[in-house]
Amino acid sequence: MAKPKPVDDLTEAEAAEELARLAVDIADADKLYYQEDAPKLTDAAYDALRQRNAAIEARFPALKRADSPSEKVGAAPTGRFGEVRHAVPMLSLDNAFDDDDVRDFVTQMHRFLGRPDDEPITLTAEPKIDGLSMNLRYEEGKLVLGATRGDGVSGEDVTANVRTIRDIPQTLPKGAPAIAEVRGEIYLRKDDFAALNQAQEKAGKPLYVNPRNTAAGSLRQKDAKVTASRPLRFFAYAWGEMSDMPADTQTGMVKVFEDWGFPVNPLTKRCQDVDGALAVYREIEAQRASLDYDIDGVVYKVDSLALQERLGFRTRSPRWAIAHKFPAEKATTVLEAIDIQVGRTGALTPVARLRPVTVGGVVVENATLHNEDYIRGFGRDGSVLREDDKGEPVDIRVGDTVTVQRAGDVIPQVLGVDLALRPADAKPFEFPAICPCPLKTAVVREETASGSEGIVRRCSGEFACPFQRKEHLRHFVSRRAFDIDGLGEKQIEFFYDNADLPVQAPADIFTLAARDAQNLKKLKDREGFGTVSVRNLFAAIEARRTIPLERFLNALGIRHVGETTARVLARAYGSWDAFHDAALKVAEGDEAALKDMDNIDQIGPTVVEAIARYFGEPHNRALVEALTAEMEAITDAEQAATDSPVAGKTIVFTGSLEKMTRDEAKAMAERLGAKVSGSVSKKTDLVVAGPGAGSKLKDAGKHGVEVIDEDGWFALISE
Ligand code: IVH
Repeated sequence: MAKPKPVDDLTEAEAAEELARLAVDIADADKLYYQEDAPKLTDAAYDALRQRNAAIEARFPALKRADSPSEKVGAAPTGRFGEVRHAVPMLSLDNAFDDDDVRDFVTQMHRFLGRPDDEPITLTAEPKIDGLSMNLRYEEGKLVLGATRGDGVSGEDVTANVRTIRDIPQTLPKGAPAIAEVRGEIYLRKDDFAALNQAQEKAGKPLYVNPRNTAAGSLRQKDAKVTASRPLRFFAYAWGEMSDMPADTQTGMVKVFEDWGFPVNPLTKRCQDVDGALAVYREIEAQRASLDYDIDGVVYKVDSLALQERLGFRTRSPRWAIAHKFPAEKATTVLEAIDIQVGRTGALTPVARLRPVTVGGVVVENATLHNEDYIRGFGRDGSVLREDDKGEPVDIRVGDTVTVQRAGDVIPQVLGVDLALRPADAKPFEFPAICPCPLKTAVVREETASGSEGIVRRCSGEFACPFQRKEHLRHFVSRRAFDIDGLGEKQIEFFYDNADLPVQAPADIFTLAARDAQNLKKLKDREGFGTVSVRNLFAAIEARRTIPLERFLNALGIRHVGETTARVLARAYGSWDAFHDAALKVAEGDEAALKDMDNIDQIGPTVVEAIARYFGEPHNRALVEALTAEMEAITDAEQAATDSPVAGKTIVFTGSLEKMTRDEAKAMAERLGAKVSGSVSKKTDLVVAGPGAGSKLKDAGKHGVEVIDEDGWFALISE
């Protein structure tokens, strides 16, 4: 490549042309780097582009473009966060909200393991730190990577920033495993947070909201110097990949981390049984206010790593740990108005507009009122949801002084009303009978699975309702679904009823470029767009013509099929075609398909019914067909577990199993990439039969399916 002309020698026309080219090249490089994880430029080459752009802009300030790359990222183009796939997924924790939930958690583990109740499982109990989780990877004793949790599968590479945190050792002592991933929580102490805010106030700058968000913001700084100026801290409590396990208990592992130089939480205790664990919860709760850092609960973990391994994981969380949350924080304020929102499924949700109030350190202005019954204070069946001293139901009215509750990341909700403060002229809220959407459809109360009248009011407009369609599209392009860069809420709004380039169904997104090419009026000439942004948008759409099946299923917006369920379905069916066939059969009421779907771990009748309803609707079938004609959903699962001898096989367990419970067997098989079915058919690959197996064994003979016993199973999977 020819050496670029020195900036000082450029004519104005040359400079303008080069700035345009740089804007495109840098945007392209960003896209490849951030979204496709496939950078085509080295960091040095990328930095050179940015520096050249900055130098030209400095000489010709008037030529600075509206889409200038220098506007997009902070001043110093030091590091860019890359996406890194975790060697071991970073899962979240299930929550327990009271003692009963904790006891259930322990009972379920006993059941899963087939362990008698009088052999208690030793637990650990430790504070749940309200910070953000971090994976620190050490290779040959050296810190090589610091990554945020992200979606659990991939996170952001924030190594440069993590290196500035004093609590985190740069090296591990001799003897540490060749690969060691230490996990824990990054947090900001309350006093450090207060000092930061004092400095902000002095400088006349806006105040930070709470320590957690400030810690997260501090860690995601482009300039590591900013991170270094914030006193972030760390507690180690878990691990990812370990080439050698240095201990065989949770307590032992944490002790090892301490020996390696990591701060570990001093309140962590080992408990002989659930009562011991609950006692620690109360001790920690009593100290909560006086601790230096924010905590939002207590985490219990099974101490034995052998048991942890047997218990394994559900989709999102381990079976061997749970977070016992502290009660939610509350505050009172005035309810100023009630608005109605139309959701993606047409559900009308009443939203409380509140006089701003701080709840547990966060300013709350909106809260959910759930549904009509919730506002009224009693259900259709006459059950009282909120009562006064005499046991009479209490409704919620505009003007009321209300209690607002916020728990963790969930949407705040309005709890109760102070009747003594109710204004004399406050009137009962009348739920609209007409949808606020332009169709002004009649609002219906949905029927539940059992045929009785449900509590949610819905717009009956379905896809004819622009709110619902728009919401569908918004969901379709959202981060956890298609995640199309440059196509967010604003653009959906723009395209939705655009006369030249309407986008009213998901497939329309993929025909945008072709339709634009045919139009006389080009998108690039529209206000708010330009050659570069249109080019980027079309490229971002192109890049999504193949997408992981789980994202695709989530994007379809089938009721009750969110991210987690979509992942389960993607894993169980292994391909779009297999899922689609099954879904169409389920919609037709095919018994075998229904049973198969219902048999999938974590899939119950509600989901099966929602899928049946979705695919039973001709409009949806057409929508899906049009969409899959434009793009392809592919599976990770097909590639993921191919190295296991049972990956991709359909297995049936029957008879009584002696070395593992049925649940444990099922979870184990699924972990190895197999599908577990409840009935034997010609599609079954293997039957694992214990003593007393009956009809399923006969079916296996009929279909010529291989049968092995429990020992055979263990021999097979340890191959
Ligand atoms: S254990 C496989 N221990 O809580 C589970 N998590 O709600 C590994 N957290 O993402 C997590 N304090 O960020 C664990 N003592 C603690 C924790 C803790 C805070 C966070 C962590 C996790 C989240 C799950």
